[in-house]
Amino acid sequence: GILVGMVPGILTDYDSPSTNDNDVHHQARRRRTFAIIAHPDAGKSTLTEALALHARVITEAGVTHGKQGRHASMSDWGTMERERGISISSTALRFEHGNVIFNLLDTPGHADFSEDTYRVLTAVDCAIMLVDSSRGMETQTLKLFAVCKELGLPVVTVFNKWDRPGQETLELLDEVQEATGRLPVPLNWPVGIAGDFRGLYDPESGNYTRLSRTNAGASLAQADVMSPEEAAVDAGDAWEAAREDCDIAVSLNGNFDSEEFLAGRATPVLFAAAASNFGVAPLLDFLVNRAPAPGPRPDTGGTLRPLDSDFSGFVFKMQSGMNPAHHDKLAFVRVCSGTFQRGMTLRNESSGKPVSSKYTHHMSGRDRDSADESWPGDVVGFSNASGLRIGDTVHAGEAVAFPRLPHFNAEHFRMVRGLDPSRSKAFARGISHLEEEGTIQVLYRGFGTSQTPIFAAVGVLQFDVALDRLKREFNAPAVVEEALPYEMARDLYGPDPVQTAKAAAIDVVYRSNGNPVGLFRNQWKLGRTMTDSPELFGITEDEAK
Ligand code: G4P
Repeated sequence: GILVGMVPGILTDYDSPSTNDNDVHHQARRRRTFAIIAHPDAGKSTLTEALALHARVITEAGVTHGKQGRHASMSDWGTMERERGISISSTALRFEHGNVIFNLLDTPGHADFSEDTYRVLTAVDCAIMLVDSSRGMETQTLKLFAVCKELGLPVVTVFNKWDRPGQETLELLDEVQEATGRLPVPLNWPVGIAGDFRGLYDPESGNYTRLSRTNAGASLAQADVMSPEEAAVDAGDAWEAAREDCDIAVSLNGNFDSEEFLAGRATPVLFAAAASNFGVAPLLDFLVNRAPAPGPRPDTGGTLRPLDSDFSGFVFKMQSGMNPAHHDKLAFVRVCSGTFQRGMTLRNESSGKPVSSKYTHHMSGRDRDSADESWPGDVVGFSNASGLRIGDTVHAGEAVAFPRLPHFNAEHFRMVRGLDPSRSKAFARGISHLEEEGTIQVLYRGFGTSQTPIFAAVGVLQFDVALDRLKREFNAPAVVEEALPYEMARDLYGPDPVQTAKAAAIDVVYRSNGNPVGLFRNQWKLGRTMTDSPELFGITEDEAK
């Protein structure tokens, strides 16, 4: 018969949490820390909402994660602070399903903020790549796939908007493989061509889940699960075609193989229509059953920090607090090992200074979990975190340092000038604040009082954001001058980098910590300098070639 409204699979392994709630391995196994990445408009907000709807949203704040919700939470910022302390809804959405706790970290959609996205991706264990089926691989899709490759992140690909006319399934898979080098392995297959989405074929069980249109979109889509025989009657030719195409894909690319997925050589593929909440349950099931749980992370020396060692984590994001007038900063830390408890004694590895864990914000896993505890994979927000910088490692007990996050190579350079001389101190403070937060890179030309700051951006929208914040938060209106004639910047290394660079007619500026940075007018000049003076870039002659 037809099973109407079947509940997605729930893992029994996780069903008795009370027995070992205090075991870090058990808690880590229950967690999935991931991000949804996509070219803008592919449906990231829609999918986020649909996932939260299918699962149980743990925090109130998380319910309003979608586009509209984000607007609301921005304007209600102050109210929310008063009501329930700092909300980290725009950083991490937390929800639970099948006794698994999900931490869904938000990434900015626009390409100009790719550096922020990169930093968030260092804090997750896998990524969901959402693709608009009618558009296929878009520029951001490709860039994000490349970032995942660099970070060694497993990626599951979801073809969204299958309810819209678009490309053919097999073509889409080819495109993925060609563009990313990852082997696309279908976990389900759409029945009905793009634009006429009937349901999903599950090659593992052989069953058909029919999309019921009666209440699609309004709430959870009613899913009718049918046997192959019933499906043949219900969907006819579309069913046969789906099975044939899926068989072709499976015979070419194989079945799901966990090792291939985790190594980034294969990307499992799912089809969905997030706006109709359809195809979301299989994605959740995938995350529960097959996505990686937090594991030991390598320190700077490459040694894995065991999950059950002392608490440790790293700052992957800084954000202004809710009261801009106070310039309070929030530092978001991804927990890598151990148990975090409010009030514990912590140290910032890079400065050696103690870090207060008194003013932290983290959500308890569930109502019955003891509050104020976080485990590997979780995100803890430190407020009043003026001593913390992006990339810093925070730890209890035995010291550890996780790899620092690299600077993205900026491509746009502009001098920034304060407009109000009486606000010059606020201007300087604002600039260094924005730099610490990672809003924009700041380079300085010259020394002392004649020092002038240069904004270095990966994307030009960063200029607008930085200027807007200088004005609003620091009451220090500023402008950027015309674009400087450089296309790239590189940190300089070696025995006497400034002299070497100047001898090669390279313009040298400095980061706030004094590190010299070379500015290059074009790729040719950069390439030439790399060949002539590889030591400037901390590379060998061979690497330069
Ligand atoms: P983003 O966060 O990735 O930028 O995308 P978002 O979720 O905002 O979705 C972008 C547009 O795509 C929205 O339409 C959304 O409704 C639509 N969309 C998302 N998933 C699906 C789907 O499965 N099928 C179809 N047909 N459309 C989908 P919009 O017109 O921009 O907004 P709205 O009219 O829905 O408010």
